[in-house]
Amino acid sequence: IKRIGILTSGGDCAGLNAVIRSVVHHAIGTYGWEVVGIQEATQGLMENPPKAIALHRDNIDHLLMMGGTFLGTTNKGNPFAFPMGDGTVKDRTEDIIAGYRQLGLDALIGIGGDGSLAILRRIAQQGGINLVGIPKTIDNDVGATEISIGFDTATNIATEALDRLHFTAASHNRVMVLEVMGRDAGHIALAAGIGGGADIILIPEIPYRIESVCNKIRQRQAQGKNFCLVMVSEAVRTELGDQVKQIQQFGEDRYGGIGKYIAEQIAQRTGAETRVTVLGHIQRGGIPSPFDRLLGSVFGVAAVDLIAAGKFDHMVAWRNRQTISVPIEEAIQTYQTVKLDGALVKTARGLGICLGND
Ligand code: F6P
Repeated sequence: IKRIGILTSGGDCAGLNAVIRSVVHHAIGTYGWEVVGIQEATQGLMENPPKAIALHRDNIDHLLMMGGTFLGTTNKGNPFAFPMGDGTVKDRTEDIIAGYRQLGLDALIGIGGDGSLAILRRIAQQGGINLVGIPKTIDNDVGATEISIGFDTATNIATEALDRLHFTAASHNRVMVLEVMGRDAGHIALAAGIGGGADIILIPEIPYRIESVCNKIRQRQAQGKNFCLVMVSEAVRTELGDQVKQIQQFGEDRYGGIGKYIAEQIAQRTGAETRVTVLGHIQRGGIPSPFDRLLGSVFGVAAVDLIAAGKFDHMVAWRNRQTISVPIEEAIQTYQTVKLDGALVKTARGLGICLGND
């Protein structure tokens, strides 16, 4: 191994730059390799010449606390059916492989969620690329690892949002609904809901009944607590089974809107005054939490060591207070939603939090 590449693919999150910094330090400092930062992931590799910069150890320390990804990421679509700008789509796999070869790389570190890792793996297999993966996503749904980069920061932000809503809710006797991200998994909603003291938490893994939600609000009213905090994950479906995105015609591939729908239902049925906050990309922005900086540093070093050991087509993972490596395929196939018998669901129930199906 003489030269390795690194790229960040899919939605950004806090902690990505800490990974890049860690890879650069270890690859150059310990092994004496060169490190190339690929800009805009597979999109950058498609270009001729590929978009990339040499990374050195002399100016990377500020990366530890920087949000987002300074290498940029993909946002134009699937490389296997890439929009060419004239209404047509093209499989760009060979262009990406050509870009990788042009950079003279011996191995590639791909930082991505399950979707990006699946894409990178398919390209790597076709092009004989020595790929090592690092899991990142605020959604924390990548399989085979207990945690991914970005989840902790997003959860901290969602918790803080709930803290802030708490005071204004209590001042006005309102039901405050907070809609958070998470794609098809309720991890952020559940963790931040518990941490932020939500009274009701709705996640896509547990179908809710609106009467169960309203009963909790009435119960609190009967106890003289005239405000309520409701945490809702973006992919929660209405009782009718639809996603509100369809009802509101947001477009096929967008989430969002369920918070507003639930708030309207609560207002109609309980007479409570409701307000809705959709946290959106605030969860993905901002500086990384100390834990995401730590995890980013740990994963960066572990990924470089995997390359040195020739353990390709593997992803670094965090399990039982250790880094381990798992086949990328395993991580993709064991996509993690909230476990209904898991510790957090039990904790929520133990605390008397309504999960919508009581
Ligand atoms: O997967 C990360 C995520 O932030 C999801 O939680 C959310 O559904 C989606 O990405 C938003 O995507 P975009 O940034 O394309 O709007």
